[in-house]
Amino acid sequence: MNGYRCIGCAATQAADFAGFVCPACGGNLDVTYDYAAIADKVAAGFAKVVDDGRSDLFRYAPLLPVRAFDTPFPLRVGGTPLYAAPRLGGLIGLRNLYLKDDTVNPSASTKDRAGAVTLRRAIDIGAEVVSVASTGNAGSSLACLAAALGLHAVVFVPEDAPAAKLTQSLSFGATVFAVRGSYDDAFDLCLAASDEFGWFNRSTGYNPFTREGKKTCAYEIWESLGRRVPDRIVVPTGDGNLLSGIWKGWCDLQAVGLVDRVPKIDCVQSDASAAICRTVRRIRNNGKSNPDWSTVVVDAVRAGTVADSISVDQPRDGLAAVRGILESGGETLMVPDEEILAAIPEIARTTGIFAEPAAAAPWAAVKQLVHDEKIDADELVVCLVSGSGLKDVANVQKTVGSPLSIDPSVEAIRKTAIFKR
Ligand SMILES: Cc1ncc(COP(=O)(O)O)c(C=O)c1O
Ligand SMILES: [Zn+2]
Repeated sequence: MNGYRCIGCAATQAADFAGFVCPACGGNLDVTYDYAAIADKVAAGFAKVVDDGRSDLFRYAPLLPVRAFDTPFPLRVGGTPLYAAPRLGGLIGLRNLYLKDDTVNPSASTKDRAGAVTLRRAIDIGAEVVSVASTGNAGSSLACLAAALGLHAVVFVPEDAPAAKLTQSLSFGATVFAVRGSYDDAFDLCLAASDEFGWFNRSTGYNPFTREGKKTCAYEIWESLGRRVPDRIVVPTGDGNLLSGIWKGWCDLQAVGLVDRVPKIDCVQSDASAAICRTVRRIRNNGKSNPDWSTVVVDAVRAGTVADSISVDQPRDGLAAVRGILESGGETLMVPDEEILAAIPEIARTTGIFAEPAAAAPWAAVKQLVHDEKIDADELVVCLVSGSGLKDVANVQKTVGSPLSIDPSVEAIRKTAIFKR
């Protein structure tokens, strides 16, 4: 790491800059690297994965903003499987569909990637209390990883966050503030409180190291595909940090000479929370794909979707996501909540992977792409399954009905619907 560059106005900061956002315009910062200097190390690091079987994301240390460390991270974050999904893809004629299963991270979502890197950073600067605003997953992730590292986590969530996510955070011993308001209210309060009390604020997008953690997902996909670049990666999007991270991961690989192109990064949002999709469409409708980024304003919406993880009024990493979509030539997909919920059992029944609503949205989006004839049957498509269905059972239950209630006898089974089909 050799410094920071503002996503908006491009002002640069040195590596020892202590703030999180651009002092010139308030925009989010992108961590920069001296790619020429680290290219050999990076290539050797990727080769090493195969040699020594280490599977967590810290094997990519040369491309992460972390100091050298002796002790391994206490939990395994990253190194998640990429599964071919022929039966799911076959439902709509896709021959090369893959699912990146990030539900198997320690706290059961992709958020652990950001948490691991930001917490390493927090330890580097001697922080003891770490804070985050969250729709639920970033909070339970921070609580989980902080517990493993012996740090104290303070979590701000909207009070209607799913019970499982709150219960996770409380079990891990975090202080959890259920804010009477939206995620955006929780975000602003976390920012103010962290300033006031000197906590290390890991909030998504605002903290530049979250993107650095999430980008490792791209590296892993590349490795799992036998060092091939997919045609597209379909990413569930709220704040836009996951999408901008995955885009950055591919840009990193290109910068160190390991790949010669970047896949299309497709953005999936609920049509009831689609600030980033709308902004991209507005810019494209104006005939621009490479606008002056310092002038681009990301739309805000009033969000209200069943996919709580991607329910965001004002995306906190919106500009970086808009750039990633435009520069990679990705699609913008707005899917209705019914289609998001219907996608959950479809994925589960054909792959054995249980996704929360946000994490099922990419499959709903892929169906839309096929319906709109925007995708070729042979394209290599990766859907990111970013969080486990166990995190939001109440909403998933609406789509799968109830178990068959019977008396404890074989005769009772004989009388049930399964024999009437
Ligand atoms: C399961 C899941 N999927 C997708 C996302 C979207 O990430 P972002 O808000 O960075 O766009 C989140 C964020 O909370 C999430 O928890
Ligand atoms: Zn700036």
